[in-house]
Amino acid sequence: MPTTLINVSNRLPVTVGAEITKSSGGLVAALEGLSPQEYDLKWIGWPGGAIADPAHQVEIDQALREEHGCIPIFLSDEEVAGHYEGFSNSSVWPLLHYMPNYMHYDPAWWEQYRNVNQRFADKVMELAQPDDLVWVHDYQLMLLPAMLHERMPELRIGFFLHTPFPSYETFRCHPRRRELVAGVLGADLVGFHTFGYMRHFRSTVLRLLGLETEITRIRSEDGHVSAMGVFPIGINAQKFEETLDALEFRQRRDEFIQANAGKRIVLSVERMDYTKGILHRLDAIEQFLSGLDESGRDAIKFIFVSVPSREEVEEYKDVREETEARVGRINGQYATLNSSPIRFIHGSVNFTDLCALYATADVGLVTPLIDGMNLVAKEFIACQREHNGVLMLGEFTGAAEELSNALLVNPYDIAAVAEKLTEALAMSDDEKRALNQPMRERVVKYDAQHWARTFIEQLRISEISAPAASESVEVAAGLLAQAVAAGQRIALFLDYDGTLREIEPVPRAAVPTPAIWALLDLLRGRPNLVVTIISGRRREDLETWFGGTPFGLIAEHGATGRPSGHTSWEHWDRGIRYDWKDEIREVLRLYEQSTPGSFVEEKSTSLVWHYRKTDPEFGTWKANQLAHELSTMMANEPVKIRQGRKIVEATSAHISKGAAVRRAIEKTVPDLIVCAGDDQTDESMFEVELTNMITLKVGREPSQAKYRLRDPSAFREFLSNAFQTESAL
Ligand code: UDP
Ligand code: G6P
Repeated sequence: MPTTLINVSNRLPVTVGAEITKSSGGLVAALEGLSPQEYDLKWIGWPGGAIADPAHQVEIDQALREEHGCIPIFLSDEEVAGHYEGFSNSSVWPLLHYMPNYMHYDPAWWEQYRNVNQRFADKVMELAQPDDLVWVHDYQLMLLPAMLHERMPELRIGFFLHTPFPSYETFRCHPRRRELVAGVLGADLVGFHTFGYMRHFRSTVLRLLGLETEITRIRSEDGHVSAMGVFPIGINAQKFEETLDALEFRQRRDEFIQANAGKRIVLSVERMDYTKGILHRLDAIEQFLSGLDESGRDAIKFIFVSVPSREEVEEYKDVREETEARVGRINGQYATLNSSPIRFIHGSVNFTDLCALYATADVGLVTPLIDGMNLVAKEFIACQREHNGVLMLGEFTGAAEELSNALLVNPYDIAAVAEKLTEALAMSDDEKRALNQPMRERVVKYDAQHWARTFIEQLRISEISAPAASESVEVAAGLLAQAVAAGQRIALFLDYDGTLREIEPVPRAAVPTPAIWALLDLLRGRPNLVVTIISGRRREDLETWFGGTPFGLIAEHGATGRPSGHTSWEHWDRGIRYDWKDEIREVLRLYEQSTPGSFVEEKSTSLVWHYRKTDPEFGTWKANQLAHELSTMMANEPVKIRQGRKIVEATSAHISKGAAVRRAIEKTVPDLIVCAGDDQTDESMFEVELTNMITLKVGREPSQAKYRLRDPSAFREFLSNAFQTESAL
């Protein structure tokens, strides 16, 4: 049975006019290249334009489904204005391309963006089964992954961003920055064109949502894991190869060559977009032309194919008007009696003509100010099979990372672009061939199909992090309730921070809440029940909060404790050496000084460096460095170095919560033991492994505990249910 792949992009790959025509872009080729035995492809998206008539909609819906495997979502004028022209293309697009000065924002656009993402989610839900794959594309649908994940957590969801992802400093300007990244994190796999974009995304997630990332994985607070990867998109190489073989192509190419006899051709192809660097390029062309005499100007022709784009958006209107005015001025100034230097086409050309143009041009001049990938550059190279044109490529395109044999230029350096153009036109055929051949091989090999296959394969093997089965914790609840009802002797070892109590940014703020007291009151004075609070905290903290209760208290990860019902503390670390503390203290002080917001805490058995309030990236970076430094330094000492929640801790290797639990149950062995904890130090309790023990992890990180609960409030509920049931009996 083939796997169903639901592909979701804002725009369907079709043009709806008198007839429906399918576009030939990379994405279509990529997905159509997947074997139908393996994948059953469905494509959801907007068919473009505003088709308001319901009867017409039904007709188009049917034709699209039956003939093209596409499922349309018709957007109203209001939705197009708010979601597409407004939120997507006037606020998100400019920011993703580092242009906050082009950004506008209207809160009503946000409503439409959410609404349209929701409509896409509804449409996916009409089709999706839990074992399907869903692949969501691009910045118009950044909320969709989270919406889908919430509604069907088992679904494997991929998200690919076709644009750059900018630095946090730029992305943070967006009024809905948090919602946008949280939306993307609903995906199981998030793909980018380059490592640079992925790196910025990672850093933005940490800074906006406080989520730590391993190199390629992000764990959200609900435990869901998003893997990240770099997948540079390719072109429909096969279609280019076939076209280059076709007679029609050769005819068109020969016609272009004839029509431009005696001239060198410099070609630029792009959507009319301010990110494409058209005005900067015109500056460079002007500078280049100013250095030529009349016969030189007669011998060169610049061809611009500027495909109309997003014409309702003000900035796009502006760039078009300005381009046309500049082209007019340049042509007026540099025209000779025989020719004018720039042929400007505001429109599209058909595929064969595009290939013929690529294959005729002496130079492909592709100089975006920034571009996620830029397929035109790859297409130009694919068409240099017999003829050898030079690719001049802007450094700030994703393609520049792969096409390193191109003449790379800084599009802002007008003089350098003009100079490189002279250089390009002077290159010998041998030189050009030597540069182009390896690039062509690469572009043909790593094509769009390769891109889609690698992304989908990775999505298929991505970790599915649907919430842990709730039945399993019910088994624990059942065991505990039974023991309570049977009046068995029960010992509870409860970690405090992160288990009984939610974590606070400042540890001293984590005082017991009324909810905790309500639970402790329920447990207090109950026959056959021994409750012990077991913590890494100092004895003073536990005593301040729980000194007046009959509960057992174990502090500093088991170094000292007060057995249940006692008032005096016992020390279990007698005879343990602590002279290593002096050396470590000195290092921690240096880190405290050099990392603003961090501080050192000293406990009798350990030293802790806290970095919760530091710059998140700098703090994590310093913590890794510190942990490494301390581990090397203490390699031969009985000291454990541990990285916990925003802390690095050095503790005596002889002390652990696990050892404290063993000691506590040595004399009077209970019928049932429950150990609950949330972090690395609690794992030593889970390792005790007695048959009459329930081990319970609070939180989503990997753990040896047998059972798992989401967060402290779920844990409190778990305990009170077990004991309340009994009181109700
Ligand atoms: N293109 C087109 N019609 C044309 C000229 C170009 O459809 O008249 C195609 C071109 O072949 C390329 C795409 O438009 O595949 C542009 O993709 P690119 O990655 O360069 O830029 P984007 O438009 O995605 O920003
Ligand atoms: C870029 C975007 C795509 C978008 C395309 C055409 O490539 O990354 O998501 O579809 O431009 O833009 P349009 O606004 O016409 O869909």
